[in-house]
Amino acid sequence: MAKFHKNPIFFLHILIFFHQFDVLISQPTHSPILNCLNNQKITNFTLHPTSNHHSSLHYNHLLKFSLQNLRFASESTPKPTAIIIPDTKVQLINSVLCCRRSALDIRIRCGGHSYAGMSSIPRGNNPFVIIDMMNLNRVIVDLESETAWVEGGATLGELYSAIADHSSYYGFPGGVTPTVGVSGHFSGGGIGVMGRKYGLSADNILDADLVDPDGYVLGRAEMGEEVFWALRGGGGGNWGVVYRWKVQLVHVPKKVTCFFVTKQAPINELAKLVYKWQFVAPYMDDSFHISIYLTASTSKDVYLTFLGFYLGSKLEAIKIIDRQFSELKIRQEEYLEMSWVESVLFLSGLPKGSTTRDFKSRYWSSKSYIKTKSDYVREPVSIEGLTGALEMVALEPRGLFLLDPYGGIMDQISSDSIAFPHRKGNIYNILYALLWGEGDDEDRCLSWINRFYDYMTPFVASNPRAAYVNYIDLDLGITDFANSNDNIVEKARAWGEKYFLGNYDRLVKAKTIIDPQNVFHHQQGIPPSNVKTHDEL
Ligand SMILES: Cc1cc2nc3c(=O)[nH]c(=O)nc-3n(C[C@H](O)[C@H](O)[C@H](O)COP(=O)(O)OP(=O)(O)OC[C@H]3O[C@@H](n4cnc5c(N)ncnc54)[C@H](O)[C@@H]3O)c2cc1C
Ligand SMILES: *[C@@H]1O[C@H](CO)[C@@H](O)[C@H](O)[C@H]1NC(C)=O
Repeated sequence: MAKFHKNPIFFLHILIFFHQFDVLISQPTHSPILNCLNNQKITNFTLHPTSNHHSSLHYNHLLKFSLQNLRFASESTPKPTAIIIPDTKVQLINSVLCCRRSALDIRIRCGGHSYAGMSSIPRGNNPFVIIDMMNLNRVIVDLESETAWVEGGATLGELYSAIADHSSYYGFPGGVTPTVGVSGHFSGGGIGVMGRKYGLSADNILDADLVDPDGYVLGRAEMGEEVFWALRGGGGGNWGVVYRWKVQLVHVPKKVTCFFVTKQAPINELAKLVYKWQFVAPYMDDSFHISIYLTASTSKDVYLTFLGFYLGSKLEAIKIIDRQFSELKIRQEEYLEMSWVESVLFLSGLPKGSTTRDFKSRYWSSKSYIKTKSDYVREPVSIEGLTGALEMVALEPRGLFLLDPYGGIMDQISSDSIAFPHRKGNIYNILYALLWGEGDDEDRCLSWINRFYDYMTPFVASNPRAAYVNYIDLDLGITDFANSNDNIVEKARAWGEKYFLGNYDRLVKAKTIIDPQNVFHHQQGIPPSNVKTHDEL
């Protein structure tokens, strides 16, 4: 026997046996979902290439097309068993049901901009499927009622250009990057240059059709006010799949005014400008929005870019700035009048020469490796504090910091009007981002952004230190559903209250109503209060 065991042929046979066995078991892992999709006549999907049904080229292309953070596109990132692209509401419902029947986790992907890759990566190593909403991107505008229905896979660019195609007197408040998906964006809030006038995207949602965990489509009346409240700002991927949203269009003048001025000066000069901005931007006419971008060059020069947007004429904009913020020293020719949709293009950061037709392109051409964090500021930061921050900014050319002013209508809307809670008392929001490329040392990038975040501690909202869920940051904590000893609702509170403040418990309640079995979960999902622990399942 011993001799026989040493026979290389024997080992070869064992290898072949295991190899065949491997093929045999990997096929059946696909076939339940494959059979289900075939039975439901869903044709636009691609399976993980091990099953040879589609080429791996096609699979990789689809996987990466809307995966906007290259950190989650690496070889070592777990890959979905299938990517399904439903074309109709019925196909969407059946996609959800097929995943459930095949015991596969569901990741819903709209624009794919989640900074933590929540729409493209699994929880741990759970087998999962991406339901990519990109073909459900129709927008129906109704000027008479001043509303639009926008399907859950549309991008902001698709929504904005559809509105502009109908009229130049209407717009919608939200971010300016056209490839950002409406569903992720609306689910977390949606901050943009009309936020001080009209609030968040989520403040302007009138209705939604939600595919629940059992495949029922629920409108606002059917899902009930608690769940409809949670959909608006409680974070994506928690409640079901939003098939479509009904939004309230807002009025915009035929011409708005924008400026984009960059200041490069010694740090103490720049600190004075930011200091002054804190006393102007949150308090000015709510038709005005001035945000600041902070960046540095490789030669350690710091740049402050003031992005201005005003719902009115150039003449009025000049008058307001001259009176309230003359230190910006903006030249007359730097104030540009344009239509609202052109202003989105102007502020979007799309390459020079782009037109509003490019809003329909879903491919984001400037992808990189990204890590973000966020804060809220309630008291102006001192000159010394700002100087220290700018000195740190100077040392990292891959850093990008965005300060977005609040105030205006954001102060008028109560903290529990919708799930997004950061209202009165917040003067601005900070996005800390580090963007790096292939081959850069990820650990060094992450430790840099952590040091910056630590530095900011004394200057920003505390107890809890607040954060914006659309700038999702897994450092704040992770829901470990697998650990049976945890009281998950209490554990998740640690970060849940950072995103949602006093609204956290109500979100748990809404989750328990709509998804008691926690079908729609992710690393920072809202847990239902009756969540079954691993041992009980
Ligand atoms: C370049 C860039 C610019 C940005 N600019 C702004 C800005 O100006 N203002 C601002 O507020 N934010 C901004 N953000 C943040 C952005 O709002 C969030 O990342 C948002 O969640 C992205 O939505 P998405 O659909 O593109 O992302 P996805 O990654 O597709 O989705 C995000 C989350 O929502 C879930 N989800 C997606 N579709 C659905 C659906 N149909 N039903 C239910 N859940 C769904 C996903 O599963 C995931 O958990 C920006 C992000 C980037 C990368
Ligand atoms: C699936 O949808 C994508 C995105 O719209 C499209 O490019 C592709 O051609 C579709 N494939 C099939 C098989 O219909």
